[in-house]
Amino acid sequence: SPPGRLKKTVVMVGMMGAGKTAVGRALAARLDVPFLDSDAEIEVAANRTIPEIFANEGEAFFRDKESRVIARLLQRPQHGVLSTGGGAFLSATNRQMISLYGVSVWLQADLEVLWNRVRHRDTRPLLRTADPRATLAALYDSRVPLYAKADLAVNSDGQAAIEDMVDRVLAAL
Ligand code: S3P
Repeated sequence: SPPGRLKKTVVMVGMMGAGKTAVGRALAARLDVPFLDSDAEIEVAANRTIPEIFANEGEAFFRDKESRVIARLLQRPQHGVLSTGGGAFLSATNRQMISLYGVSVWLQADLEVLWNRVRHRDTRPLLRTADPRATLAALYDSRVPLYAKADLAVNSDGQAAIEDMVDRVLAAL
């Protein structure tokens, strides 16, 4: 069958551990549109992992790359589903670009759910602190008001299967 058509790119935003990549990938498959992931694209463009970029070039460098990658991915001729890193939607410039070319979907989850999803992974440089749980809580509190600016909010709770979350996003779109 021919690939699906979307009027706008669906942009997944929200905290680390919310499920942006897993739900975004499944949503793209369901819609038969391309799936794009800004973190993965940054890693390919920089030829190194995100922890390496943070360690070698610093967060400001990463944020600059992130904005450029998101701008490029949003302007592809065929719209798809774009997963962004947890910090991408904090920048007013990024939010403006995203609202121009896309519809933003905040995947919401409780702090406890997020913590349980990220606590065993060592891939998030922002959580390499003495007290990663407290760090996550502080990020959560400061970011929620900005994620709330997304066009849609969909709950991504602890137990729901990915397909259920895809159904919720589709129902909200
Ligand atoms: C970040 C989240 C990460 C990645 C980077 C910074 C953040 O993406 O972009 O480590 O600021 O929350 P995920 O949300 O996919 O973990």
